[in-house]
Amino acid sequence: MELSEVLQARYSVRKYAKKEVEEEKIAAILEAARIAPTAKNLQPVKIRVAKGAEMEKLAVATKCTFGAPLAFIVATGGECYERFYDKKQSYDTDAAIVATYMMLRATDLGLGTCYVMAYQPDLLKAEFPCLANYASACILICGYAAEDSVPSERHGSRKALGDILL
Ligand SMILES: Cc1cc2nc3c(=O)[nH]c(=O)nc-3n(C[C@H](O)[C@H](O)[C@H](O)COP(=O)(O)O)c2cc1C
Repeated sequence: MELSEVLQARYSVRKYAKKEVEEEKIAAILEAARIAPTAKNLQPVKIRVAKGAEMEKLAVATKCTFGAPLAFIVATGGECYERFYDKKQSYDTDAAIVATYMMLRATDLGLGTCYVMAYQPDLLKAEFPCLANYASACILICGYAAEDSVPSERHGSRKALGDILL
C-alpha cells in the first residue's frame, strides 16, 4: 500500500475476527517499532507481545481488548531525553511514535489496531511481571478486523484544517 492509502485506511478497530495473526506479520510490526525514531536515539521503549490465553490477563487491566487475538504492550524505561530548559522527558512521546509506526505497519499488512490508554497500570503490572521496572505507555490491540467492523463516528469527525492551524 502507498503511505497515503495506509493513512486513509487506518481506523480504530474495536471488533476482531477469530483469526490468529501470522508470526511473520508480528515480526514485521516489531521491526517497524525497532526502526522508529526516538529522542536522541536513546530508544527507551520496550514491547511485550501478548496473545492467546494472555489476552485474558490483559482483560484484567482493560475493557478494551475487543476480542482481539494479539496486543503489544508498549512500555518505557532506561534513559530518555530530558529537555534542559524545563526537564520535560521524552518517554511518552517516544512510545507514542513507536506505537504509531506499529499501527501504520499493521494497517499496511491488512491488520486492524486500536491504540489503548484506558487501562489500569497497576493491574497490568501485576498480570505482566516483566513490566515491573518499566512504565507502561499504551496497549496496541491488533488483529484482523471482523467482517462487520466499521469505524466509529469519531473516525469521520476531524477538525477542519483551518481549525488546527495557529
Ligand atoms: C493517545 C490515545 C489513546 C487512546 N485510548 C483509547 C482507549 O483507551 N480505548 C479506545 O477504544 N480507543 C482509544 N483510542 C482511540 C481513539 O479513540 C481514536 O483514535 C479516535 O477516536 C479517532 O478514531 P480513529 O482512530 O478510528 O480514527 C486512543 C487513541 C489515542 C491516540
